[in-house]
Amino acid sequence: MEARSLLELVRAAARPPDRVTRAASVDDLRALARRRLPRMVFDFVDGAAEEEWTAAANRTAFRELPLAPRALTGVSAPVTATELLGTPVSLPVVLGPAGLAGLVHADAEPAVAAAAARAGTAFTAAALSSAPLRDIAAAAGGGPLWFQLYATRDRRGCEGLIQQAVEAGCSALVVTVDTPAAGLRERDLRNGFTIPPSATPAAAWDAASHPLRWMRWVQTMLRGPGAAFGSLAHLPPPDGGWLGDVFNARLSWEDLRWIRAQWPGPLAAKGILRPDDARRAVECGCDGVIVSNHGGRQLDGARASLQALVDVATALHDERAQVLVDGGVRRGADVVRALALGADGCLVVRPWMWALGAAGERGVQRLLEIFHADLVRTLVLAGIPSVDAVGPDAIGR
Ligand SMILES: Cc1cc2nc3c(=O)[nH]c(=O)nc-3n(C[C@H](O)[C@H](O)[C@H](O)COP(=O)(O)O)c2cc1C
Repeated sequence: MEARSLLELVRAAARPPDRVTRAASVDDLRALARRRLPRMVFDFVDGAAEEEWTAAANRTAFRELPLAPRALTGVSAPVTATELLGTPVSLPVVLGPAGLAGLVHADAEPAVAAAAARAGTAFTAAALSSAPLRDIAAAAGGGPLWFQLYATRDRRGCEGLIQQAVEAGCSALVVTVDTPAAGLRERDLRNGFTIPPSATPAAAWDAASHPLRWMRWVQTMLRGPGAAFGSLAHLPPPDGGWLGDVFNARLSWEDLRWIRAQWPGPLAAKGILRPDDARRAVECGCDGVIVSNHGGRQLDGARASLQALVDVATALHDERAQVLVDGGVRRGADVVRALALGADGCLVVRPWMWALGAAGERGVQRLLEIFHADLVRTLVLAGIPSVDAVGPDAIGR
């Protein structure tokens, strides 16, 4: 062995891999985030509506779907690349939309966009992002970027947001349709969590119990965009503020048609759980639907995304529209299960929020490494040569 490589080996041994590098799963990144973030912030990300049944059902649905691996196929280097909503991606896993990433890390959404672009997949910037969309787009550096729209009551707000997405070079628009009202997030109520965060007895107790965690978080809030709504900053705020406006019970199929007419690129409706709604979204001009119950954060008791996926994919079988799914996707094997049930791809959200909270851009990079390695390993073990070749027979019924 050459002296130089021996030296490198010794150096590597002296510098054991950090906790992020050692994270082997999404759960490991979640555990790191839990240790770093104040309880109210961790719970804002981790929590769901009411008794959190739907959030739990999202996970259980995957567990109850056993895979049926094919033997002696010779598959050793499966292809994970595909195309979602017209965007070429290195794997069928897109980072979905979540507001207020500035609460978990000072680098906020630009760090997520940069990590996604480097991994060759899309990040969906939310209308309620902490950082301005132009900063997120700059960080993506020409890599794939989608935009999620909350169709505000005031159409001028919508037009402004769509225009920003066009100018930022977003390649697909995702319209969220499952927020006629805000879900009841009981963990937030118990923690006294508000947007923007305020001093409450529960927060003071947590701060006294975990002073280092809180000092770090106060720095996060001071250094980054924190609880700002960066993408909305230069739009005229509606009466009652943005949060009041995005929960829009009057949003209609007619509005979806109107949005279709405003947006030149691929469009998907997010928050569909019924086959008839999926068909209607396609009739309104959507190029895809995202089967989602908002991670169980809206209607608790709503069916698991994976259960709804089967019906939606069957309903759209003869359409050109794509079907994506989110809610509880945590492993490569989950992605394979979703594809087997008819999905074209998956979105993950809490995983990137945890990864960002754990270690900023490096955390999100590690998350995508984990998903990619997981997916490759699952395909090899299941004997499937590519993500596009995953069919219903990948599941043992
Ligand atoms: C902290 C947080 C914020 C979210 N914000 C939004 C949002 O602004 N717009 C939206 O359409 N969905 C939002 N969602 C829902 C996600 O896009 C997604 O549907 C859900 O979290 C997927 O489930 P998963 O977290 O289990 O991957 C949010 C979810 C979380 C956890």
